[in-house]
Amino acid sequence: ARILVLHGPNLNLLGTREPGVYGAVTLEQINARLASEARQAGHRLDTLQSNAEHQLIDRIHAARDDGTGFIIINPAAFTHTSVAIRDALLAVSIPFIEVHLSNVYKREPFRHRSYFSDIAEGVICGLGAEGYALALRAAVQRIEQN
Ligand code: DQA
Repeated sequence: ARILVLHGPNLNLLGTREPGVYGAVTLEQINARLASEARQAGHRLDTLQSNAEHQLIDRIHAARDDGTGFIIINPAAFTHTSVAIRDALLAVSIPFIEVHLSNVYKREPFRHRSYFSDIAEGVICGLGAEGYALALRAAVQRIEQN
């Protein structure tokens, strides 16, 4: 099956962006590792990073018709603001895991609220780039169970 990994705003700056919070690894490195692990498991990985809400929404809509069986999403700041992306995920009803690099619960109170967690299969936060790899492992397991 196809697994879609979505990265929200500012995650294109990973590696240089607040490295004390988000780590030194770049988005390219994260995506490359995920693609190789997905390939080894016999699945195909698609990735998109966007700073624009509508592009993330359009990609989620496209996933309904392109054979995507699972979504891994770090909505970044849209986590705390976007009813529209939440509704897109509900509309396509593709299961997803929510990932955050940082432990949002250690941070400002406005990061404690997510528009995604109550409709996600699972949520991983605070484990850095490793969180994406763990999410991928869980996604593969779930795809193969179905
Ligand atoms: C983030 C946490 C969000 O609060 C923040 O706006 C981000 C990144 C994370 O991965 O830790 O941009 O989603």
